[in-house]
Amino acid sequence: MGKRALANVAFGVGVRTVAGPSPAAGPVPIMPFTPLRRLSAGFFATLRRILRGCGAAVQARPAFAAWVYGEPDEADRASPAELAEESYREFNHRYFASFGEQEKMLADGPRMAFYHAAVARRVRPGDRVIDLGTGTGILAAFAARRGAARVYALDHSDILRQARRLARANGLANVEFVATHSRDFSLPEPVDVILHEQMGDHLFDEAMVPNVLDLRDRLLRPGGVIVPSRFEFFCEPAKVRDERRVPFLWELRVEGYDYACLAAERPDNPDYYRRIGCDLGIVEHFLGVASPALTLDLMTLRPDEPGEELTVIRTVVNAGRLDGFVVFFRALDGDDLALSSSPLDPGRAPHWGFRILRTEAAEFAAGEVITLTLRVGSWIEPDGWRWSWVRSAG
Ligand SMILES: C[S@@+](CC[C@H](N)C(=O)[O-])C[C@H]1O[C@@H](n2cnc3c(N)ncnc32)[C@H](O)[C@@H]1O
Repeated sequence: MGKRALANVAFGVGVRTVAGPSPAAGPVPIMPFTPLRRLSAGFFATLRRILRGCGAAVQARPAFAAWVYGEPDEADRASPAELAEESYREFNHRYFASFGEQEKMLADGPRMAFYHAAVARRVRPGDRVIDLGTGTGILAAFAARRGAARVYALDHSDILRQARRLARANGLANVEFVATHSRDFSLPEPVDVILHEQMGDHLFDEAMVPNVLDLRDRLLRPGGVIVPSRFEFFCEPAKVRDERRVPFLWELRVEGYDYACLAAERPDNPDYYRRIGCDLGIVEHFLGVASPALTLDLMTLRPDEPGEELTVIRTVVNAGRLDGFVVFFRALDGDDLALSSSPLDPGRAPHWGFRILRTEAAEFAAGEVITLTLRVGSWIEPDGWRWSWVRSAG
């Protein structure tokens, strides 16, 4: 019998058994609801209602709540950014444990070529290296094969077991696998290189900035390097291919059946506006000339950067319809190595998705100017992002 079934029986409401009989066993027996069970069910239901009511009444009076629960200490006062980071941390260590996620990343040719070349360029024989989020250990292996003296390969996911097995099978001797979240990792001496691949579809949404900056500030020697450290973040106004465009419901007119009246019923849920099916081939062109909305270098970035508001101004060069703003990124090493998630770059790394911040359709002529304002509560949590745009003459 499953846990839930047990709990239900304890409260006398486990009328249908959750564990479920085999198909051959016939219909689920209904347990008789004895007067005693009825009494206990009623009693506990009333008790729960009273306790819920008391809790709500206390919380509705902040001064009284502070007296009842005590003042929250520093650790309890998490900012929205910290809460987003914590919830991503929870999700992340399960998500990357799967073979399915790891194989998509490893089969991404442009991604692996970028890292192989960047590690060859930045890791020197004798270096001490941290691989933050080693996954199957591939970047640690690249570094070890470059002659690193020691590679600390950190991961908080169960995939680390496979990384250890792979290192043994491939004869890597100088890699130390550490099952930990990077925030909990420490060393007596700093390292020469931090390797990482912590980029999400929205660049920031895998907590790259706080995780890398934490290790940088605690464990990277002065003059050490982060690979990769330079990034460009884009938010480009774009037209979607006509046959792939999914308008908002109130923009539709299907065989003369007009949905315009639903404009008054627009959903509040920001996720609804955040994306349209973002497979490759959907974006026809950008309306302006793409250029980074943000550039950042993890070597010098401060923890309070980037700021919470971003403005993107584009002069329209490709006249036509605006359907939304495409979010993508590039990682850079030197002037000649780049890893791109742009839907319009032929050599893009295919396993990253990209996102479109949806807008209602609007026609633009060449020379007009689009100004996008993106407000970000937490960079790690794109669900909270809000955007608006205005048009002006060129
Ligand atoms: C995108 S995967 C990259 C895996 C590997 N580096 C590669 O390039 O194939 C990110 C990995 O980092 C791990 N990870 C993310 N944040 C971490 C952190 N702060 N500490 C330890 N592991 C982390 C995840 O569990 C996941 O295996």
